[in-house]
Amino acid sequence: MKIIAANWKMNKTNKEARAFFAEYAKLVRKNNNQVLFFAPFTTLGTVVKAGKELGITAGAQNFYPAKNGTFTGEISLDMLAEAGVRTVLVGHSERRTLLKESDEFINEKVKAALNAGFKVIFCIGENIEEYETGKTSAVLKKQITRGLKDIPFVNGLIIAYEPIWAISGGDPSKPKPIPTREIIERIHTEIKELTVKMFGCSVPVLYGGSANDKNWAELSTMKNVDGALVGGASLVSEKFATMVNIK
Ligand code: PGA
Repeated sequence: MKIIAANWKMNKTNKEARAFFAEYAKLVRKNNNQVLFFAPFTTLGTVVKAGKELGITAGAQNFYPAKNGTFTGEISLDMLAEAGVRTVLVGHSERRTLLKESDEFINEKVKAALNAGFKVIFCIGENIEEYETGKTSAVLKKQITRGLKDIPFVNGLIIAYEPIWAISGGDPSKPKPIPTREIIERIHTEIKELTVKMFGCSVPVLYGGSANDKNWAELSTMKNVDGALVGGASLVSEKFATMVNIK
């Protein structure tokens, strides 16, 4: 069983999502994989509805870690729960860089979501400079120790390792080169060892960054790769269904 999560980012209207699921339903075969779709807020209703028919889980790409209040433009965990959503993405590199989310704010979000009984996919990853200067392990360790500081429990927590330099620009026809098997296996093992040290148990670790229908068959055989977080390739029903169909 693998966890295969689509990160649609700021893509797909309800109409487009309905067309996607109509195609996806024809292509996907019954299997044990756990499939999630992180959709824009306005499209979540369509994903929740499709979830009932297709056995998929709807997830939100963002929320604000307060019960309610004067936070113009934000969405709370209660609002998501009411909409049938109980899974969230936290710490994605696009929110860290473009939306300036700090490790401290990310930590607040992880704690709020776990305390509210949500499942959390917590994203970490190094940029190209950090990768080229051999700082990957140190950067990831810092993101994990800060982002997961004082969390109440690890039940419901999943980590996604996404080297920023491997993340595609969103065009499914233009994936970026990804790390070698040796690197991915080493990094995923390090992440798991760190979680054992911090929490006494290891957590599932997904790989993200140009994961697609062409490379997932191999990626899925790598040691300590428990699944994938998929951007560009999750926008195309044929590509994503091919990934989900791989056992
Ligand atoms: P990508 O995006 O699959 O398009 O590289 C992954 C992500 O940013 O989660």
